[in-house]
Amino acid sequence: MSGILDGKKILVMGVANNRSIAWGCAQAMTEQGAEVIYTYQNERLKKFISKLVDDEDRLIECDVSSDSSIDQAFSTMESHFGKIDGIVHAIAFAKKEELGGSILNSTREGFGQALDVSSYSLLAVAKAGAKILNNPASIVTLTYMGSDRALLNYNTMGIAKAALESGMRYLARDLGPAGVRVNAISAGAMRTLAVSGIKGHSELIKESQSETVDGVNVTQMEVGNTCVFLMSDLASGVTGDVIFVDKGVHLR
Ligand SMILES: NC(=O)c1ccc[n+]([C@@H]2O[C@H](COP(=O)([O-])OP(=O)(O)OC[C@H]3O[C@@H](n4cnc5c(N)ncnc54)[C@H](O)[C@@H]3O)[C@@H](O)[C@H]2O)c1
Repeated sequence: MSGILDGKKILVMGVANNRSIAWGCAQAMTEQGAEVIYTYQNERLKKFISKLVDDEDRLIECDVSSDSSIDQAFSTMESHFGKIDGIVHAIAFAKKEELGGSILNSTREGFGQALDVSSYSLLAVAKAGAKILNNPASIVTLTYMGSDRALLNYNTMGIAKAALESGMRYLARDLGPAGVRVNAISAGAMRTLAVSGIKGHSELIKESQSETVDGVNVTQMEVGNTCVFLMSDLASGVTGDVIFVDKGVHLR
């Protein structure tokens, strides 16, 4: 069967387990013919992704808080797979203290770490990735509507997502001449490991579901299918954009 991503090699960063949005993206892209390569954060998380992907060669360690880990990961990738056609960046982290109550709870250290891992990492990955991306290629990152409104408990991560989206636009400008498009998907709230760090996350997900246009929450695969589109040549005119895949929650 032919798919719209036939012949494309795509790196997916951020699968922690089968609930990860990155896993939805990987599954949807595989269904459309892409060859998917994965990075995992560390040995502890490798155990989980190994249950989902049985080809050891496709699993590469990459801690985005370390430049040397990023360099190592991309050089391993290049030597095993050559040039690639896309990167999905589905990575974020903030300490629990940054994700509850007042934004005045934020600390210099916690804020710095959240922005380093959740926002700067897109630039760092794009810099390393640019050396092995084909022309054309596509980079997709994951964001949330807490970037442009003050949502309960989302706090520092909202600021990190604003920086991520801005970084995405600057990257779109500067990688455009090399044929690399850069976009973000603003996904609806869904239960994942990352979300469980947010104070009151169960209420956040329930509320988000009740605010969808049909009362049914968006799925990992719906986000994945939009990722397929952005990775495909059908999206050749789309760059520097944030596409909402939240079944209308952002309309409220
Ligand atoms: N779940 C939601 O409701 C939701 C909504 C909108 C956007 N997002 C975004 O989607 C993306 C994926 O999150 P998710 O919800 O699937 O959760 P997840 O916990 O499954 O994925 C987060 C990933 O980030 C990785 N990560 C954290 N620190 C890292 C580091 N230093 N180096 C490398 N990897 C690191 C983790 O290993 C994990 O794989 C995040 O950017 C998140 O903010 C999530």
